Amino acid sequence: MAGGEQRGAPGAGRVALKKEIGLVSACAIIIGNIIGSGIFISPKGVLEHAGSVGLALVIWVLGGGVAALGSLCYAELGVTIPKSGGDYSYVTEIFGGLAGFLLLWSAVLIMYPTSLAVIALTFSNYVLQPVFPNCIPPYNASRILSMVCLLLLTWVNSSSVRWATRIQDIFTAGKLLALTLIIIVGFIQIFKGNYKELTPSNAFNFWMTPSVGHLALAFLQGSFAFSGWNFLNYVTEELVDPRRLCFSGAREGHLPSLLAMIHVKNCTPIPALLLCCLATLIIMLVGDTYTLINYVSFINYLCYGVTIIGLIVLRWRKPKIFRPIKVNLLIPITYLAFWAFLLIFSLYSEPVVCGVGLIIILTGVPVFFLGVYWRNKPKCVNRLIESLTCWGQKLCFVVYPQCGAAEEEEASSGHSWRPVSERAARK
Ligand code: TRP
Repeated sequence: MAGGEQRGAPGAGRVALKKEIGLVSACAIIIGNIIGSGIFISPKGVLEHAGSVGLALVIWVLGGGVAALGSLCYAELGVTIPKSGGDYSYVTEIFGGLAGFLLLWSAVLIMYPTSLAVIALTFSNYVLQPVFPNCIPPYNASRILSMVCLLLLTWVNSSSVRWATRIQDIFTAGKLLALTLIIIVGFIQIFKGNYKELTPSNAFNFWMTPSVGHLALAFLQGSFAFSGWNFLNYVTEELVDPRRLCFSGAREGHLPSLLAMIHVKNCTPIPALLLCCLATLIIMLVGDTYTLINYVSFINYLCYGVTIIGLIVLRWRKPKIFRPIKVNLLIPITYLAFWAFLLIFSLYSEPVVCGVGLIIILTGVPVFFLGVYWRNKPKCVNRLIESLTCWGQKLCFVVYPQCGAAEEEEASSGHSWRPVSERAARK
């Protein structure tokens, strides 16, 4: 879900999302999303695969550079196709419904739940470390604690946007404080003269000669920490009119409308939160932290690359379209060259992990044809969908956010409990 400011206005008799994200909030969204657990967990993975301190540092710098190239491309796409939903909306617009649906499918089922699982597991590992001072905390203990945290946070996020925002602010401050401390202590050590490991002869003293496959895996681990730089593109329209990813998906008829609905009083997206919580719990049971990082980074890279190919296709198909930001063509080309290297070699080094990710993406194909493409479904199927939506609405006490003029009218006559799957599909 997009993490923009979301506030209800029940006093005004309508269920809506707050309409503005300013520059400061935009920066906060990006920073809060990029700095998660990655920087506290993936340095180990990068170092292990890089084989030396020096090469690990080079990989961090290159990883940051590649993320910067990617974000320049997304800036062009964001202002050329000013629609919320980010990569999902661009891919749908450029390559059509199936490609967009597969991207949405992998974001909702893999990318977000897996990154949440990694964040929760890392947090629990650090919390448990003082209890197990002489060894690494047992994986099952971390797992159980992370599940408890996840359930607690889902509950808070479902009950109150204000409390969820407060907790997020506290944790963002905590993360920034921890990072600042690490950086300051590092500099203090350097000024004290403890920089032997950084001198070129020591830094490039390899304890293992990394293969190209190892390097690709080191990049995957590092790029997890940089992931999330595309997040503002999910809420482009929120700069004018609030939408988030699930909302965009429901608008295209690619997601059940229930997933875009919010609680009547609390204005929290309860069905989407529950789905995310369930998927994260399942993923936590499946893999260990480092495998999950490889898994999510691979799929994430795949999606970024397909979107950036879209940028080039759009330049070719619609060269005259107005582009307030137009990057040099070398930028997407360099990104894609790196992208191809990373995907090929990580698939080669971790065929099972990456292969499973690909298979999960492909399971979206039959779902797309059955759920989205097949429009004239028998009446009984439509009735079943409608009654499930209605049942879900009553269970979670949710309605479709009312933003536009038509919805304003509807709001003035009370909250709508009518299933809106068809309406969302038509939109
Ligand atoms: N960068 C985040 C971290 O370090 C993880 C993250 C945020 C992420 N958004 C993502 C990972 C999207 C994959 C996809 O914790």
